[in-house]
Amino acid sequence: MQACFNPYLWRNFLGMMDMMQQLQEATEFVQKQYNNNPTIGIILGSGLGNFSSELAIDFSIPYAKIPHFPVSTVEGHSGALQFAQLGGKNLVIMAGRFHFYEGYSPAEVVFPIRVMKLLGVETILLSNAAGSVHPDYQVGDLVVIKDHISFFQTNPLLGKNLEQLGPRFPDMSEPYSKQLRSKAFAIAKELNLHLHEGVYTGVTGPTFETRAEYQLIKHIGGHVVGMSTVQETIAAVHAGMQVFGVSVVTDIGIREDENTITHEEVLQAAKEAEPKLTALFKAMIANI
Ligand code: HPA
Repeated sequence: MQACFNPYLWRNFLGMMDMMQQLQEATEFVQKQYNNNPTIGIILGSGLGNFSSELAIDFSIPYAKIPHFPVSTVEGHSGALQFAQLGGKNLVIMAGRFHFYEGYSPAEVVFPIRVMKLLGVETILLSNAAGSVHPDYQVGDLVVIKDHISFFQTNPLLGKNLEQLGPRFPDMSEPYSKQLRSKAFAIAKELNLHLHEGVYTGVTGPTFETRAEYQLIKHIGGHVVGMSTVQETIAAVHAGMQVFGVSVVTDIGIREDENTITHEEVLQAAKEAEPKLTALFKAMIANI
């Protein structure tokens, strides 16, 4: 039989070996700086970074100091891995995430999620700012993500599988934990918070959608649309973590008037809705 050397596969294999090593190096670095054995990971979306200012942060490591970590460049993100305790639970918080539109590869986007896994995280709480294509949703509303559609976002699991983290073909029939979603609705009742439950559509950005694209997203079954979350969720599910995600509606995609959507408006709407999200996340953490 002829020996077969496929340079592409070989490079890919080496790249993945390297990736596991990089993840381990980043994790060891973090653990040497501070180790509270976190079990809950939190990712704060655009304009939603204040959650951590309500907690006593025990330790904070700027992303730039962590080997192999990408560095966040977007306004509204502080770019640090923070450690805190809430109600006896140890948390690791990403104040600022990495977006595909910033030019990071999907593997870079999910790098911190995998580090969280190696740190011991079992449950991830995600938040994001999103546009709505649902007629009942208003700016400032919270939408618990029940499912997602990956729309033009490249899958972060492409390439050789990281066997140490998870299977080649992960099941995605329930990426967002049903149990955590029902917990959220029970909590919302107690807190007198109004929650929707909907489908998040992940796009690459950085353009907001055209009117025709918002219509298409509605047509294919999306309720909100945003530029993050999907790749992170895929990596978390691959690695066997539970995911709970909430979108804050920051703009209305399908509308009659001629107004445009700006990043400033998105940040402002997120800021205004943030206290509701913080209350929900705190109660969720207490109940996990
Ligand atoms: N589209 C995509 N991403 C977003 C939006 C939107 O309307 N709002 C906030 N992030």
